[in-house]
Amino acid sequence: MAYIQFFDTTLRDGEQTPGVNFNQQEKIQIAKQLETYGIDVIEAGFPIASDGDFHSVKEIASVIKNATVCGLARSVERDIDRAYEALRDAANAQVHVFLATSDVHMKHKLKMSRAEVLQSISHHVAHARKLFPIVQFSPEDATRTDPAFLVQAVQAAIDAGATVINIPDTVGFTNPTEFGALFRYLRENIPRFDEVIFSTHCHDDLGMSVANALSAIENGARRVEGTINGIGERAGNTALEEVAVALHIRNDYYKSESGIILNQTKKTSDLISRLSGMPVPRNKAIIGGNAYAHESGIHQDGVLKEPTTYEIITPALVGVEKNSLPLGKLSGRHAFVTRMEELGYTLTDEEKNDAFKRFKHLADVKKDVTEDDLHALILGQSSEQAVELNHLQVQYVTGGVQGAIIRIHTEDGTVLEDAATGAGSIEAIYNTINRLLEQDVTLTDYRIQAITAGHDAQAEVHVVVQDNQGETYHGIGIDNDVLTASAKSYLHASAKASASKQQPTNEEVPVK
Ligand code: KIV
Ligand code: ZN
Repeated sequence: MAYIQFFDTTLRDGEQTPGVNFNQQEKIQIAKQLETYGIDVIEAGFPIASDGDFHSVKEIASVIKNATVCGLARSVERDIDRAYEALRDAANAQVHVFLATSDVHMKHKLKMSRAEVLQSISHHVAHARKLFPIVQFSPEDATRTDPAFLVQAVQAAIDAGATVINIPDTVGFTNPTEFGALFRYLRENIPRFDEVIFSTHCHDDLGMSVANALSAIENGARRVEGTINGIGERAGNTALEEVAVALHIRNDYYKSESGIILNQTKKTSDLISRLSGMPVPRNKAIIGGNAYAHESGIHQDGVLKEPTTYEIITPALVGVEKNSLPLGKLSGRHAFVTRMEELGYTLTDEEKNDAFKRFKHLADVKKDVTEDDLHALILGQSSEQAVELNHLQVQYVTGGVQGAIIRIHTEDGTVLEDAATGAGSIEAIYNTINRLLEQDVTLTDYRIQAITAGHDAQAEVHVVVQDNQGETYHGIGIDNDVLTASAKSYLHASAKASASKQQPTNEEVPVK
């Protein structure tokens, strides 16, 4: 039984999704959940890219104990040194050095010859190895690289001390047959193939990233890289939850195991979906809303007679369990805390008190508080920002101009109040917030969904705002009132935009 390591890059490649920007607190929350999910390596960011990225990687390195924490670095000494500074206190650290090896990248992007690329790999991997026990090297755009040159690049990295070789399909160009053959070719031509770990990193441009990753595993890869829900640059990355469940369900075929705690799948996916603002399509494998729903009469009949007729995965396996005993306003603190613990939350006494107060407030306006509401209670709180909404008053006139009055509490305790109008209630609210925060941002996306069914369901609002540099920021707001949820989501996105202005990025590093 081969052990397949899971390398999650939700916080690095996943954050390269347009409109997705996690703040530091969200990154830590995600890293902790990835650790609980059983991820072996967490790529926490690209430390040279900005002070914000550096501090997030450092903070994650200090709290994660059961997974290796990794930082990305170009094949440049100061990138590797910066990654070392961020990761030096980690319980287990690794660096991920990359350099493109395809002719198109070397000629147009790097303007380097093959000899220069090989020289850079040898020098920088050796430099990284002086600082890190685990050094991963990626020949970027490997699937469009001349295979003979790919062997030379990989050999140079191994000779310089690389312990992991990651083969990226950077532009999602390959297919399972070809990618499997590439791994076999590397195995045949790299004498020390079995002494290092070979890894796979695929993008989904042609919709084949999960199949490509599985093909790599069949042909010798012992590490799989990807993101939760497959978020990432362009069409995204390999969805790790799909690979994990495929390896489990088709263990007869793949004969491999992993450390993934499968019943944490739904919770992990929900967290990423909420914080990234990227809803999971209902028909998505493993975690989509329809993945365990049987519509046709013949299927329903079959499942009632014997579930395995049409169900190869049980919802319980991936933590999709609808709990039949919702909490309500008569539920006590003990029942609440027990349910939160069952859902996997470890809260301090103060957090329990705060969460219980919010639960009571919710239970006053909502008859049944379901599991999804309880998750939202924690996620909604964690997305709250330095700026707190104190008071919201909206004046609605049929066919007229709408008005809003808002009072907010800023981080330093200042209370600000203002009013503005708009063609609709939401516009009036957002115009008022723009005045209060003296900001110039444009709303580019607004989505609203109900967390559960029923007239008293909580509203979850996602917005994306764009600043005048063209950068986009996602915000989420949860409340039983849609206008309050809308205001909260806009304040959340605005806080991210303003925090990012205060974090100068390293102009030389094109992160996105
Ligand atoms: O897709 C890619 O090539 C990458 C590298 C940094 C490994 O993300
Ligand atoms: Zn990538």
